[in-house]
Amino acid sequence: MEDLSPRPGDLEPIETASRDEIASLQLERMKWSLNHAYENSPFYRARLDDAGVHPSDLKTLADLSKFPFTTKQDLRDTYPFGMFAVPRAKICRIHASSGTTGKPTVVGYTLKDVDTWATVVARSIRASGARPGDIVHVSYGYGLFTGGLGAHYGAERLGCTVVPISGGMTERQVTLIADFKPRIIMVTPSYMLSILDEFRRQGKDPRDSSLAVGIFGAEPWTNAMRDEIQDAFDMHAVDIYGLSEVIGPGVANECVETKDGLHVWEDHFYPEIIDPETGSVLPDGEMGELVFTTLTKEGLPMIRYRTRDLTRLLPGTARSMRRVEKITGRSDDMMILRGVNVFPTQIEEQILKCGGLAPHFQIELTRSGRSDDMTVHVECTLEAADEAARAGSARELAHHIKSVVGVSTTITVHDPGGVARSEGKAKRVVDNRPKE
Ligand code: DLL
Repeated sequence: MEDLSPRPGDLEPIETASRDEIASLQLERMKWSLNHAYENSPFYRARLDDAGVHPSDLKTLADLSKFPFTTKQDLRDTYPFGMFAVPRAKICRIHASSGTTGKPTVVGYTLKDVDTWATVVARSIRASGARPGDIVHVSYGYGLFTGGLGAHYGAERLGCTVVPISGGMTERQVTLIADFKPRIIMVTPSYMLSILDEFRRQGKDPRDSSLAVGIFGAEPWTNAMRDEIQDAFDMHAVDIYGLSEVIGPGVANECVETKDGLHVWEDHFYPEIIDPETGSVLPDGEMGELVFTTLTKEGLPMIRYRTRDLTRLLPGTARSMRRVEKITGRSDDMMILRGVNVFPTQIEEQILKCGGLAPHFQIELTRSGRSDDMTVHVECTLEAADEAARAGSARELAHHIKSVVGVSTTITVHDPGGVARSEGKAKRVVDNRPKE
């Protein structure tokens, strides 16, 4: 794989600024953001008044812990535009996430917010190893989801040629990759696996493709999956993180030269890690729930937004800004089986250890009596499709999951193509337990 380390002059000054410089910029911007929210959003004014705090109480960055959290429920309660801090007419763009239950959560951007977003996504794409002039194939969905348009504006801002194909029509994705020869692809890791299958179906060797870098996010994925994709395509696989409530993709991104966690673009988004039970702030290095305060957003400022994503904060390496460790999962995705906490990423890791299995999987939860049971639906590879090989793979996977994760599971090995394919975010868990 190519060495894609940045060259002198590639980086914005803030990416290599001292911690003191970053902190003083953050404090100045945080004061602005709290004031802006308090003065212009009746929601935030009431929320802060109820908590007995005022923006002027923030004298240091640590004072942020005195301020109340914001949650997804707040966005639902104020649906659709009730949290905005500018008149509706100043909002130039709406996005929304479908959510599994109830109303979607709606977010709004001013022209300046869209500009900020393009800046942080351009920075993310550059950190991933892209350069002006590259062709960028965007397979994140376009529409209310922030993936497609977020990637698009960022790639344009960096000076790239964008192919806005969106998700789906996998056969055409592969044809256009062969014809247009993009260096960069931006897509969910699970959909990249569907694209990989299609390469093979068409008899094309993915290692011969023009792709040098994949920028993968919008769902949790493991380092084992990184190895699988890097090896299959002979390309770099880099992690991009974000959420619509905070801005969309581009809140944090890995650097291609280190691939050691995602640098949070701390000049725009202030991260904290809290204990999800007590809400208290944890020191850097400890695992907990990631919380963000936006520092520059106008349309929908976020004060201490609880992401539900679990990770820890680490010092900067390739950039001065702090990193978050690759995200294990969301607290909502955590399954509890006979007292053991299990995340889908832990199952993914074990599947990728088994030679006879393909990395497509889905977890089914059922209930027998008073305990919950887990069935892992997974596919065999073409080479290991006979009955004896499948039985061997199932035993091997059950053993790895039991010994590493600590739970007993039933494994069902399907034919190649037998597990539902993703065209965006994969649905990893199917809950068939009786509703209470
Ligand atoms: O998924 C934004 C995005 C688009 C990020 C494209 C990266 C690439 P939402 O639909 O609001 O926004 O979902 C946000 O997805 O809270 C995480 O749980 C999860 N997520 C996003 N990126 C990652 C990642 C977009 N790199 C939610 N690793 C977040 C793990 C991720 N989880």
